Amino acid sequence: MIEKIEALQKEVEEFEAESPEQVEAFRIRMLSKKGLIPALFQDFKSVEPAKRKEVGMKLNRLKNLATEKVNQQKEKLEAETRGQAGEVPDLTRPADFAPNGARHPLSVVRNRINSIFEKIGFVVSEGPEIEDDWHNFSALNFPEEHPARDMQDTFFIEKNPDIALRTHTSSVQVRVMEKQKPPIRTISPGRVFRNEAISARAHCIFHQVEGLYIDEGVSFADMKQTLLYFAREMFGEKTQIRLRPSFFPFTEPSAEMDVSCNICGGPGCTICKYSGWIEVMGCGMVDPNVLDNCGIDSKKYTGFAFGMGIERIAMNIFQVKDLRMYFENDIRFLKQFESAI
Ligand code: PHE
Repeated sequence: MIEKIEALQKEVEEFEAESPEQVEAFRIRMLSKKGLIPALFQDFKSVEPAKRKEVGMKLNRLKNLATEKVNQQKEKLEAETRGQAGEVPDLTRPADFAPNGARHPLSVVRNRINSIFEKIGFVVSEGPEIEDDWHNFSALNFPEEHPARDMQDTFFIEKNPDIALRTHTSSVQVRVMEKQKPPIRTISPGRVFRNEAISARAHCIFHQVEGLYIDEGVSFADMKQTLLYFAREMFGEKTQIRLRPSFFPFTEPSAEMDVSCNICGGPGCTICKYSGWIEVMGCGMVDPNVLDNCGIDSKKYTGFAFGMGIERIAMNIFQVKDLRMYFENDIRFLKQFESAI
């Protein structure tokens, strides 16, 4: 019995196939139900007990070796045919076209806004998205009972009513005023959060760019001229602006700024809802209380502030009617902005 096993072992070790058919014939001869190795397992039943251990081990080793040999020969032949099929890489072939990524349309618009203000000396400042009550509300002159502090509007951190997701990036400007002496010229782009129902025109997460200019003798006329410059750079040189009285706790006087509709140029269309004007931002002269809260002498300095939603402006520029598109990351939508820079 042992000799038989050893003879087969040698045969298995030396086997080299030249075709898949030879491998298959080898497998059938050795391992199929009626093959030589299963036959040895049959004979094993009559081996005397004293020799069982040794014979059993040898037999198992033979079976494993034969199985491995079959797999190894199969792989060897497959690798050879792959090579013969001419699939050696063609080193002279031009490289595959690597598609370029594109900027998200909101980044495109934010970058444009930033660079328009950077040209006239504004510096970008950023701050935390999780804010305390002081930076988001109190320093900005929000009275205790102001509705914007309400649960309806603000996402508070559970168990700590002092901490919330910022509802505007004015909070960043408080941080700048606390740290820096005038003159201050800064813009704060960033993500903001409000507890609003999601629709085509509103989302609970959106993006803003807010601006702040503080120095001696800054006037409402300075603000108007700065914002006119911005509107013309952003929407085209024929753009007109108009300021309507408004209210914000942190500015006095306050205004909403509209730009003449860049789609129809005035007579009215669906984008401007036949008014000829599109609302783009809030603005106003910084309330002296805010300056004092941040350690800036309100007798010496004045300033203006403004804030706009990036989605609004992007919807207008790219004529996207549903704001939710900006958040879905649908590649078919995003691909359309590949050429926008
Ligand atoms: N912070 C205001 C908002 O989020 C915008 C604003 C900024 C208005 C500065 C006036 C001055 O809506």
